Amino acid sequence: MEAAGSASDLNGVHTLAGDHFVLRTRYFDDELLAAGHLQVVVMAAGLDTRAFRLQWPPGTTLFELDLPELLEFKDDALRDQLAVPACDRVTVPCDLRDDWATALIRAGFDPKRPTAWLLEGLFMFLPPDAGEKVLYWVSALSARGSTLALEHVNRAFRDLPQMKAVHQRFDALDARWQSDVEDPVEWLDGYGWDAEVTHQVDLAARHERAVPAITDPHRVGDARIWLASAVRTT
Ligand SMILES: C[S@@+](CC[C@H](N)C(=O)[O-])C[C@H]1O[C@@H](n2cnc3c(N)ncnc32)[C@H](O)[C@@H]1O
Repeated sequence: MEAAGSASDLNGVHTLAGDHFVLRTRYFDDELLAAGHLQVVVMAAGLDTRAFRLQWPPGTTLFELDLPELLEFKDDALRDQLAVPACDRVTVPCDLRDDWATALIRAGFDPKRPTAWLLEGLFMFLPPDAGEKVLYWVSALSARGSTLALEHVNRAFRDLPQMKAVHQRFDALDARWQSDVEDPVEWLDGYGWDAEVTHQVDLAARHERAVPAITDPHRVGDARIWLASAVRTT
């Protein structure tokens, strides 16, 4: 077992939240497949391998957006593994602080078709105005019936004492958490999305697993990692 604080553990983040990541992954897998859309966009995809892991319906195109250097690194690693995507995977190197919408459309994205969007592990890293801009453009590019699944946190979660070492590590990596939201349903409603939040207590029960400590209300009170899914209604 690796000691908390080793490079791959990000100063304890996996020890602290590993079981949360397991549930989160399953939640987003299920939401994306349940959407049933043939156009999927994974924002700030990082090392997300859903294009390879999930059983996509024939005809699915999945766009992965991230910084150019990240996508280059990932493609090298995938090539080494001879990994074959289970859909038409299109990478879109871009900076989400710039005009990523144009880059996405140039890559073949069709805003007239309903889309399943994934925004996992992203919003907390963006300054509030950049997060609003991302959600504005996601919404502007979403035909009626599009779906969105996102992760965010509330202020109480950011302020948890358990998160202090994680924040210090992210700060050192120049990846500071910069935002939070108190009511994701209301936030998404403001952009024309009909959203609902799933609590990890319910998600854990659904999958017959223990509630991850970092999301257990008995341990963290009102601190929340939001898992929200939404349908575009306008
Ligand atoms: C915490 S990772 C999340 C990766 C993946 N979505 C997940 O949840 O596992 C954040 C990702 O955002 C990407 N990122 C950070 N700043 C970005 C920017 N300005 N434009 C595009 N991507 C960015 C990073 O390269 C990284 O892959």
